[in-house]
Amino acid sequence: VSDAGSGSRTDGISRRRLLTVAGAAAGGLVVGGLAGGAVGVASASGDDGASTGTVPFHGEHQAGIATAAQDRLLFASYDVVTTRRADLERMLRDWTSAAERLTIGRPVDDPATSAALPPTDTGEAEGLHPARLTLTVGFGPTLFELDGVDRFGLAAQRPAALVDIPAFPGDALEADRSGGDLCVQACGDDPQVLFHAIRNLTRIGRGVVRLRWSQEGFGRTSSTTADQETPRNLLGFKDGTDNLRAGTDELDDNVWVAAADGPTWMAGGSYMVTRRIRNLIEVWDRSSLAEQERVIGRVRSTGAPLGSSAERDPIDLSATDAAGLPLIDPSAHVAVANQDALGIHILRRGYNFTDGLDPRVGQLDAGLFFIAYQRDPRAQFIPMQQKLAASDLLNEYIKHVGSAVFAVPPGVVPGGWWGQGLMQA
Ligand code: HEM
Repeated sequence: VSDAGSGSRTDGISRRRLLTVAGAAAGGLVVGGLAGGAVGVASASGDDGASTGTVPFHGEHQAGIATAAQDRLLFASYDVVTTRRADLERMLRDWTSAAERLTIGRPVDDPATSAALPPTDTGEAEGLHPARLTLTVGFGPTLFELDGVDRFGLAAQRPAALVDIPAFPGDALEADRSGGDLCVQACGDDPQVLFHAIRNLTRIGRGVVRLRWSQEGFGRTSSTTADQETPRNLLGFKDGTDNLRAGTDELDDNVWVAAADGPTWMAGGSYMVTRRIRNLIEVWDRSSLAEQERVIGRVRSTGAPLGSSAERDPIDLSATDAAGLPLIDPSAHVAVANQDALGIHILRRGYNFTDGLDPRVGQLDAGLFFIAYQRDPRAQFIPMQQKLAASDLLNEYIKHVGSAVFAVPPGVVPGGWWGQGLMQA
């Protein structure tokens, strides 16, 4: 304990392991005394999900994908800075035990026993509810191979589906908002709970990972279950009407990687594509309602397809008006992205964002942080975005400035850890 407290070990992970050991040892000494009251706000047992606002961490699939979309996002993308595979594995184990606690509203670790030590948890979530926190981890292509170098002996395990996302016409990607070796998608209903989770995971990862970019999202732009109401995006339109829904076979067909898809460690996982898409709000706000509805292909107030009256009415791309003109422009967003016509379905789980003013152009830096889950980006996001980039009327009003892709491993079983299948493959 005194070694840990002296600060003689500066490596974050070694230090943390010492602290963990110190905490566990101290906990053993005070059983029945200090421990109960000192640990945190929520009980480790008895959470039934709905009543306490928790989402189970363990399961066949990681939480945060089919989970009813929560209201807030904090997304973190990391570069791995260690060259040692053992460090990476140890961090993934430490992250998992921290996540198991965070998602039930507990601090990342038991409190240190000495006031001379830094607190094991940063403390700002004390007294807050778990807020349906989910933490979802993904591995980027560069974890497997960076500039042709097999950094951690993982290159042979890189899934064929984990391709680099190609450049699309109109892309204005910024390197410091794109890519990453590892990511954590934190979703929940309280931004402070999300901040606390990402801050502490980042702290635990010191010396192994470094934050590359992050993105806050303040309003969900999709519904992922049958009973969620469709929210609105920053263009004022209902977003997420025609989305895959949890609890249907559609997810097995379109979202979860099947065992036969390979590699073995990805069975039950999924692929996540993120795009930071700026809305050119000032331009949009000057266009007429009729133009806005033509661009999207739906009525702004009701969300109904143009020519229909209810949000859930089917989209009929062949319907025409009295003059024989199509009711929905063939280049409208919902026509070009039409999943039935393309034969491609994705699970959208994005968020509205704003990061204040962009001083370079004097306009709001706001838009959609698009997140899509799928079984194979080569057959889903990429061909869909190729179509959209080529002819979507919405292109005049948006700009893609960030892009990333991650292999999201399957869920964690009790006693297991994030990425165990990959690291032990
Ligand atoms: C800022 C950018 C975007 C905005 C504002 C936006 C907005 C919308 C809106 C309002 C709808 C109609 C409601 C609905 O069914 O959800 C929609 C549908 C859709 N969008 Fe987007 N979207 C954007 C980017 C994208 C991107 C990048 C993709 C995929 C590459 C995409 C794929 C889809 C799909 C698949 C649908 C449903 C189409 C169908 O009816 O089958 N969107 N979007």
